[in-house]
Amino acid sequence: MNSIVLHAVEEEPRNMSEGGFTLGSAFQPGTTGDEAVATMVTVLDEQDAAPSIERLRVWALDAGAVDAGETCVDVGSGTGTMTRRLAQLVGPTGQVLGIEPNAEMRRVAADRAASAGVAATFQEGLATALPLPDASVDVVWCERVLQHLPDAQAALHEMARVLRPGGRALVLDSDHESRVQSDIDPAVGRAMLEAFMRQVANPRAARSIPRQAITAGLTVDPDVGSTALVAPQHQLMSSHLARLAAEQAVADGTITREQADEALAALTTAARQGWAFSAVTIFGFVCRKPVSGREEDALD
Ligand SMILES: C[S@@+](CC[C@H](N)C(=O)[O-])C[C@H]1O[C@@H](n2cnc3c(N)ncnc32)[C@H](O)[C@@H]1O
Repeated sequence: MNSIVLHAVEEEPRNMSEGGFTLGSAFQPGTTGDEAVATMVTVLDEQDAAPSIERLRVWALDAGAVDAGETCVDVGSGTGTMTRRLAQLVGPTGQVLGIEPNAEMRRVAADRAASAGVAATFQEGLATALPLPDASVDVVWCERVLQHLPDAQAALHEMARVLRPGGRALVLDSDHESRVQSDIDPAVGRAMLEAFMRQVANPRAARSIPRQAITAGLTVDPDVGSTALVAPQHQLMSSHLARLAAEQAVADGTITREQADEALAALTTAARQGWAFSAVTIFGFVCRKPVSGREEDALD
């Protein structure tokens, strides 16, 4: 076993690319091009198919009590999977808008909604500058977006601004530091994870959501949802993410090429045996816009 090489990152780290997919540019507003978009869509489709993601989504929709006739906004709607789902839940008397800054993701989402015959619209916009009036929305859905934002606090302020009193922001995000990984030397695995996290704008997004929501004037339900997104064996056999993280750690100078190759080979071998285990925790928060005393009286 090689020992870990730990020396300071002296140069601006190079952003490693595979299949048009780079750790630093993945899921960014300006990331376009057929190869990069196809990879991002594939990643989202694979995650949509994960039972663990479905469990957290069901929990959040239920805890947030999304109801017929409500107005919802899906912030960072990606391929529009949850935009379509919210549209079905609110029905013909409700309204759903997907806000998505990436033009190509917006096009994929609009095509999929049209093919499914779902009345959802998609609009260009940023989580930190929602193109919506104050107090105009019952439900904000924001899933796995904050991790890509350098200023997640500004996004929480925007969610609080557009929510009506009594409205809910359902905020789901990962905390990448929670990753567990089998079959790779722990020190090498840690270097790979740190190389990955250095490329993501807000890799520990989840743990700051309660503070950011409360700072924005929302309350946070004490019951927090969670799920572990467990990568299936076929993904780990030729994992894009593991390869990029390993390459990034080599480029950063924190592991050697030999250590990277050894780690990836160990992961592939374990996945072939069916026992590789790689998981990251995603948390779900129900954040509520308080109803002031006078408004509460009017609702009674
Ligand atoms: C990991 S994807 C999640 C997509 C979708 N919410 C889901 O869970 O399937 C992150 C999405 O956030 C979008 N995004 C990135 N920066 C954003 C920003 N500043 N404001 C809003 N959305 C953003 C990306 O374009 C991408 O579609």
